[in-house]
Amino acid sequence: MLKKKLSKILCVLFGISIITCNMTGLNVKAATDYKFDFGGGKVESGYTGVSASTAYSKTLGYGFNTPSNMKNVTASGSGVGSDAVQFLTYGTKSSNTFNVDLPNGLYEVKVTLGDTARASVAAEGVFQIINMTGNNAVDKFQIPITDGQLNILVTEGKTGTAFTLSALEIKKLSDNPVTNRTIYIGGDSTVCNYYPLDTSVQAGWGQMLPKYVSSTYFQIRNMASSGQFARGFRDDGQFEAIMKYLKPGDYFILQLGINDTNSKNETTEAQFKEIMRDMVVKSKATGATVVLSTPQGRATDFNSSGVHNAENRWYRPSIVALAKEENVQLLDLNVLSSAYFTSIGPDATLALYMTGDSLHPNRAGATQLARIAYENLKLPLNTSSVTPTNTPTVKPSVSTNTPTNTPTNTPVVTSTATLMVEDINGDNVVNMADVIMIARSFNAQVSDTNKRCDLNKDGVINMGDVILIALKFNAVATPTSTIYQAEEAYISLGTTESVNTGYTGSGYVNYDNVVGSYVEWTVYAPTAGTYSLSFIYSNGTTVNRPMEVMVNNNVAVSNLDFNSTETWTTWSNVGIKVNLNAGNNLVRATATTANGGPNIDYIDVVK
Ligand code: GCU
Ligand code: CA
Ligand code: CA
Repeated sequence: MLKKKLSKILCVLFGISIITCNMTGLNVKAATDYKFDFGGGKVESGYTGVSASTAYSKTLGYGFNTPSNMKNVTASGSGVGSDAVQFLTYGTKSSNTFNVDLPNGLYEVKVTLGDTARASVAAEGVFQIINMTGNNAVDKFQIPITDGQLNILVTEGKTGTAFTLSALEIKKLSDNPVTNRTIYIGGDSTVCNYYPLDTSVQAGWGQMLPKYVSSTYFQIRNMASSGQFARGFRDDGQFEAIMKYLKPGDYFILQLGINDTNSKNETTEAQFKEIMRDMVVKSKATGATVVLSTPQGRATDFNSSGVHNAENRWYRPSIVALAKEENVQLLDLNVLSSAYFTSIGPDATLALYMTGDSLHPNRAGATQLARIAYENLKLPLNTSSVTPTNTPTVKPSVSTNTPTNTPTNTPVVTSTATLMVEDINGDNVVNMADVIMIARSFNAQVSDTNKRCDLNKDGVINMGDVILIALKFNAVATPTSTIYQAEEAYISLGTTESVNTGYTGSGYVNYDNVVGSYVEWTVYAPTAGTYSLSFIYSNGTTVNRPMEVMVNNNVAVSNLDFNSTETWTTWSNVGIKVNLNAGNNLVRATATTANGGPNIDYIDVVK
């Protein structure tokens, strides 16, 4: 790790980008695509052979972190599947990983396991694929690499069985280390993946959803697992993996309850609801769209008049109530699938389940459930009318921030292709009148019969829809607000400090109380123009501590007031407008009196 950092520092010092920098020579372009064939046997053509004893080295650029915890084993398949390596120690946080140096970016990783009962794949410290089963099981996933190295291993799985790896194919998808828009699915054995993915007799509906949702628009990550219940899903790594990557524009569909009602899991309905709420609240706060789904009933839930009904199974009433309380979309798969089962009758329904099993759908049953889910999700699924999240970031080193009044459930922003859907009242202009229509609709003063108010199609009418209109009539794609911490800027005559609370980042700058103390930020502007620049500051004295603001060595404001905020723990802001050049700009704020400057937490630059 330390060595890795050192090489990065050297590269930066010599002004050479990480991408073209590795230890074999500073100008050699690091490889981005690999095919590894693991084990002690023959190496297939086109693959790089890796045996259990292959130790990671900088020169090689790949290898095992702790070869002593690896073992060559045979496997029952052919080609790359005829041998494998076994991970003798494991766990999502284990350091017994296979490491591959990769330039930062987004990658697709295809895994082929060796002989397997049940095994999972973890990388970058979290689960990536849950419970692959059967010899030479194959699956793939997208992963952002942000620290120059993939660290991957095969792990539990089923206790007491071998966790083995036969082959790995790594392919770079993009320079931007952000997953494509993703639908994450949480659930149990009626939702999860079965292997081989394309031919398994048993299937979960999450496995079949890619039949309906094009991979052009979404990658689907089915993180469900057999036997899972809410507490297990939340606490044992699956939710952690989703939370690591979940972002605005992504969807998270969560369907649990069946195993929660099993007494061995000791979960009351009230506990179930609160554990589910915990996950809903946390995932919503990422800005992703969250959907709660109710589990379908048993094949045999028909009454004497041929009506399928399972409404009171699996803690469904709590899921319905929770969706309402937390204002997230409900996919009432229970009721929706019952209607379908009623329409086809008891025999055809039974045929959609595994033989002799009224709980688990077979491949055809899972396909029907996936279809019903797809048809009833109130979300844009097969459309690019939503800003793709995988557009290049403005600049990697700065943190972007959404305005504080944005609801945590950040709306998706429609592109110009769907121009005028924001024109709710149909008068050919997008203005406050449309906002008012939405506001009245969510206050239930008018009914939204033609469903025009739910602009982001998430099933609820709320501030998210209002914001879409506001963005449109301000003619901005997204409000870009970028925060630059003072403590990370260049400081002349001042110190970073953290004794007075209420700051953001790791602290603030305490200006030396002299004329001429200053902080200078490097501010990046994507385009030239006028920007709003706010200083977030505190001044616990009773007097003004004015400063001069210079932009690119020209005075922008000669005496900007930083009046008293009464205490050093009260933070306020003053804003000015400045002209910035495209690219980097120097913004300096200098104390003009012997009292020095105020304490500065950060500056916020808004286009
Ligand atoms: C106090 C306060 C400092 C501040 C200083 C000042 O010591 O804790 O953060 O910078 O006053 O007067 O400048
Ligand atoms: Ca001071
Ligand atoms: Ca700060």
